[in-house]
Amino acid sequence: MLKYLRDDINAAMTRDPAAKSRLQVVLFYPGFHALLFHRVAHALHRRGWFWLPQLFAWFGRLVSGVEIHPGATIGKGMFIDHGMGSVVGATAIIGDNVTMYHGVTLGGRGFDRLGRRHPAIGDGALLGAACIILGPISIGDGAKIGAGAVVLESVPPGETAVGAPARLVPVKTPEVARSGGGRCISMEDV
Ligand SMILES: CC(C)(COP(=O)(O)OP(=O)(O)OC[C@H]1O[C@@H](n2cnc3c(N)ncnc32)[C@H](O)[C@@H]1OP(=O)(O)O)[C@@H](O)C(=O)NCCC(=O)NCCS
Repeated sequence: MLKYLRDDINAAMTRDPAAKSRLQVVLFYPGFHALLFHRVAHALHRRGWFWLPQLFAWFGRLVSGVEIHPGATIGKGMFIDHGMGSVVGATAIIGDNVTMYHGVTLGGRGFDRLGRRHPAIGDGALLGAACIILGPISIGDGAKIGAGAVVLESVPPGETAVGAPARLVPVKTPEVARSGGGRCISMEDV
C-alpha cells in the first residue's frame, strides 16, 4: 500500500505543474487524501470487513469531498486534481496512471453479465472536470474524456470523447489536418 501511495504522490508531482514538493502534496492535496483513505478502505473491504471500510470512506469524503466506494478498484499512480464533488461507484475499476479532475461521476446505469454497474477506466486515461461516465462501459487506455462530457458508451483506446452525449473527436492525420478536414469515428465503431 505504501508503494501505491508513493506512486500517487509522484503522479501529483509529475502531472501538476503547481506541485512544488511531496510534503505539499501530502499535506494539502485533497485528491491524495481521498486516495489515502480509499486505499485503506479497499484493503479492508477485500478482507471481507464491512463497517470499518465504510468509516474510512466516510472520513475520506469528509476531508476531500471525493466519495469513493470501498469496493472500487484503483490502480497505481492515480492523480485526482481537486477532486471535490467526484463520485466513484462500488464496481468501478480504474487502471494505472489515470488523471481525474473534480466533479467526475463514475456511476451506475444497469448491470453487465458479471453484475458490474460502473465503468472500467483504462491505464493513462484522463477524465475531465465534471464528466459523467455511466454504466458498465470501458474507457480505453490513454483515452481522454472532455470536461462536462456525458459518456454512455465505451470509448476506444487513445480516443477523445467530448459533449453530452459524448461524441468522439475526429482523428486528424497530419495530411488531413493540413487540408482542414478530419476522420469521424462513430461510437458504433467501438
Ligand atoms: C477533451 C480534451 C482532453 C481535449 O483536449 P485536446 O486533445 O487537446 O483536443 P482539442 O483541444 O484540440 O479539442 C478537439 C476538439 O474537441 C473540442 N473540445 C475540447 N474539449 C471539449 C469539451 N470539454 N467539451 C466540448 N468540446 C470540447 C474542441 O473544441 C475541438 O473541436 P474542433 O475540432 O471542432 O475544433 C480537453 O479539451 C479537456 O476537456 N480536458 C479536461 C481539462 C479539465 O477538466 N481541466 C480542469 C482543470 S481544473
